[in-house]
Formats: sequence, structure tokens, C-alpha cells
Amino acid sequence: MHTKVWKMNLTNILDQDIQEAADMLKAGEVVAFPTETVYGLGADATNAAAVRKIFAAKGRPQDNPLIAHVASTEQLKELVTFIPNYVYKLIEAFSPGPLTYILPANDYCAENVKAGLSTIGVRIPSHPIALALIQGAGRPVAAPSANVSGKPSPTAAGHVYEDLNGRISGLIDGGQTGVGLESTVIDCTGEIPVILRPGGITKEQLELEAGTVMMDPGLVTSEDRPKAPGMKYKHYAPEVPLYLFTGSISAFQDFVDKEIQAGSRIGVLVSDQTAGIFPENTHMHKLGETIEEIASSLYDGLRFFKQANVDKIICETFSEEGIGQAVMNRLRKAAVSVIER
Ligand code: TXA
Ligand code: MG
Repeated sequence: MHTKVWKMNLTNILDQDIQEAADMLKAGEVVAFPTETVYGLGADATNAAAVRKIFAAKGRPQDNPLIAHVASTEQLKELVTFIPNYVYKLIEAFSPGPLTYILPANDYCAENVKAGLSTIGVRIPSHPIALALIQGAGRPVAAPSANVSGKPSPTAAGHVYEDLNGRISGLIDGGQTGVGLESTVIDCTGEIPVILRPGGITKEQLELEAGTVMMDPGLVTSEDRPKAPGMKYKHYAPEVPLYLFTGSISAFQDFVDKEIQAGSRIGVLVSDQTAGIFPENTHMHKLGETIEEIASSLYDGLRFFKQANVDKIICETFSEEGIGQAVMNRLRKAAVSVIER
């Protein structure tokens, strides 16, 4: 299959190309597109055959439901049977944006979008290209992250191309995404909202609008099964094994020193500040200074060492405040193990 690529950016959205991509969606084809979180792999959410192509292209397990992307609150309402009051507050504050609402579903979307559940995840993305595409298609667009299942989510068109070239009909290259981690998934079927996947909107931000917000126990302990089917899988794994390091800066230095002396070829994934403690010739990839920058460049960092002749990646751990919670959630799922010193 030939993958058609359209190149555009935020200041130059090409209406004709968007419409061509939207027409592909309407014709039952799959098209990858940028959002403010990560690239999505879209299909007409009302067309089961089109949705099946998403699962096939990604090699995605059939029991893992997809998020339906819509362009407005009005369109969101068409997909669900009930919206609790706190969701209106959350929509007011955070949508369009990186927040996905799990709500009781009607049968507007195809069954396989929900993977057999009675609920559906709905998100209004804020990326202008994503919004234009959904509007052009005139229907909800089902879209998981546009990576091969198990790999880090794509934050640049090059990542999508690397994973899915030849397996999808189209790819809108809109440059780098912003947040860099996936949306927060929040279960809104009960009286109190429950975070099923930490992400772009933090627990603290949600609580300011909706009062108490809980964390899915499946995220915290290994005894409980996560409620979002996708969270039980090993995820975001780079091709080179990843280890997390927790301990003092000097212990980190020691550890890396000893590894290098023992002849292991390691790649070090760190913040700009931590990078400063290692000698110039250490094989390093810097993720940025602030936790927001680190979130934004994390998946690119995880993919970076693939071509770089290393046997393992050692990444530092970060404070779990704000989006740090989502960063650490993804790192733990990507890592082989944690080294504690
Ligand atoms: O930022 C994002 O959310 C990106 C962009 C493309 O919008 N999408 C994304 O989709 O990350 P995906 O499929 O990679 O992850 C969706 C997560 C999975 O863990 C899935 O199990 C969960 O949301 N999910 C979807 N529908 C659900 C439902 N009805 N109930 C519980 N969890 C659900
Ligand atoms: Mg994904």
C-alpha cells in the first residue's frame, strides 16, 4: 500500500490537503494525523471495517478500545447516553485539550471502537489540524496512537513513517506534537471521576474543577487490574532495553562509571541539568530542563538510541509532581527494571 504524505504546519494548514485526507477517512481508509499529545491513527468511527484496519496496521490487541475524537461538545453528546455534571465543568476547563472522557456509550460508533465495552472514550483534541480533519470528515474519528503496538507513541511524523509506512493510506505531517505524552483518560461513569491513565492534564488540575478525583487502584498496585484495557500491556518499550535509576547524583555517576569500565555500551537518558555531571564523551541524550520539556521529548528519546550502538539505556527518574506523574508512569511501563542505589 502506498502511504500518501501531506506536509503542513500550524501556520499553514492546507484546506485542500485536509479535505483529501478527510475524504480518505470517509472512504474507509486510515490516515495518521498530529494532535497536541501524540500522532493518532484515524478511521471513521462509525465504520467497523475501517476501524478494523487500525487494529491490523498497528497489530493492536482486539480487546483494547479506541478513543473517538470529535470536534465539539455537541458532537460528543451524540456518542453517549449520559453526561454527569462534573464532566461539563471539565469540558469547560480542559476541552479542546488532552483529556479523554469515558462515558456510557450509545450505538452511534461501531462496536469494535469500544472493543465490547458499554462505555466509550471521547476526546476533543485542540490541535488545529486534528480539528480541521474531524470537521472535514463530518463524523467522529477513532484514533489510537499511530505507533506499532508496544512501541513508544509517535511525537513526530518520522516516528509514524518508521512504524507504519506502507501499512496506512495517509499521513499528515504537521511537525512535532506539543505535550508529547498521551491524554489523561478519566472514567466519568461514576459519581467521582477516576483517572485510568495519567497524562496531559494532571490530577491537581482536574481536582480544581471537579473536586475529589481518584486514581485507578490498578495504576498504583500490581494486585489490581487496570480498568483501561490498554494499561495492562507492556508499553512504550524502546528497541534497546531500558533501566531506570533512582538514587543520589553521585551514586548515578558511580554506576555509569562502573558500567563503562566493565565494557557495557550504555546510553544515558537525562535532564539537561543531570547531563552536566557526566564527562563529555558519555553517550547521552538530553531531554530538556523542565518536566514539561522532558514529557515532550521523552518518546523521541526512547526511540533515539535504536540506531546508536548501545546495549542498554539508563534513564534517571523524575519527581511525580504535575505531568511528572505521567512521565514516570510511561517510564515504568517501558523499563525492564529499576536500579535502586
Ligand atoms: O492522547 C491520546 O489519547 C492519543 C491521541 C491520538 O488522541 N490517543 C491514544 O490512544 O493514546 P491509545 O489507543 O493509544 O490509548 C487509549 C487508552 C488505552 O489505554 C485504552 O485501553 C483506553 O484509553 N480506553 C479507550 N476506551 C476506553 C474505555 N471505553 N474504557 C476504558 N479505557 C478505555
Ligand atoms: Mg497507544
